[in-house]
Amino acid sequence: MNRIAPILLEWYALNGRDLPWRRTRDPYLIWLSEVILQQTRVAQGTEYYLRFTERFPDVRSLAAAAEDEVLKLWQGLGYYSRARNLHAAARQVVERFGGLFPATFEEVRSLRGVGDYTAAAVCSAAFDTPCAVVDGNVYRVLARLFDLAEPTDTAAGKRLFARLARQELDPVRPGLYNQAIMDFGALQCTPQSPRCEGCPLSERCLAAAAGTVAERPVKRGRAKIRDRWFNYLHITCGERTLLHRREAGDIWQGLYEFPLIETPAAVDFLPLCDSEEFRRLLGDTPWHLRGSLALPRHQLSHQSLHAVVHRIETERLPAGSAFDRELKAVPSASLGDYAVPRLLERYLESL
Ligand code: ADE
Ligand code: SF4
Repeated sequence: MNRIAPILLEWYALNGRDLPWRRTRDPYLIWLSEVILQQTRVAQGTEYYLRFTERFPDVRSLAAAAEDEVLKLWQGLGYYSRARNLHAAARQVVERFGGLFPATFEEVRSLRGVGDYTAAAVCSAAFDTPCAVVDGNVYRVLARLFDLAEPTDTAAGKRLFARLARQELDPVRPGLYNQAIMDFGALQCTPQSPRCEGCPLSERCLAAAAGTVAERPVKRGRAKIRDRWFNYLHITCGERTLLHRREAGDIWQGLYEFPLIETPAAVDFLPLCDSEEFRRLLGDTPWHLRGSLALPRHQLSHQSLHAVVHRIETERLPAGSAFDRELKAVPSASLGDYAVPRLLERYLESL
């Protein structure tokens, strides 16, 4: 297999940053650094790390501190629940592990505020436990090296990237490897303008070959919400109501609704009844407008529907091509037998 680990480790030996928490294998100090670095960048994080380790050189001293003092030292980092979790986790180490920082992934993971990422970072760096870290840097580096279009912010995407991260992890030096791939993402394979020239992995980087570097990683993100304007014609003729069955390829496939004219923006009734669509529906049937009602905005996952219902009475059933092919005249008393969208169900209930 074409492993990237040896190349990353070689790159790291030449380019890796010399940071204080990388000079220790004390799991408490490494954990402290990771909690701080979740909150801030390396430059500011280093100052906080040095202040914390000076005042609390071991987990017992942190556990013994008053919460106020911990919060005070944390001041400026924001998100104080992280500081409270830090303090609570130190007390857990004292109470549950006799003051000895736990040494397995599961035990570390069980501490307050510790998730998969932090447990992997601490255990690999302190004990060389073979667990892969997956942070933003790792997503980016892997998405580019393997030219993966899979979004990183879905459950399936997270599983895929976690599997790939495990596959590429150096089993002999997982601690060094994890630091290496994170620094590689932070310094070489950066979010904007990565240094592909002079990158030791450029020859096997699939995104570089495909010209998709700027598009990796992909995020599904929040899909855009689309606005739609539905102008319904609630047409009755005596005891009959006109219905239309929705077709495939759009929302509400197979459900029934009133004859619909969709417009690219809100329109008043006058321009609407002057439109070709309106004439196609009603032909030369005489009609009377009995009222118009704007329905409350209806929210679907990716669409926002603005619907208006125009109440129209006709003296005879409209004849013509549109009516014959697309519309049904059903007894008004049996409207309840037809499956209609929730939006229209509410309207019918209100009548
Ligand atoms: N950000 C989070 N963890 C880090 C680490 N161990 N080194 C540098 N930056 C980091
Ligand atoms: Fe990242 Fe560019 Fe190197 Fe590919 S070639 S790993 S995109 S820096």
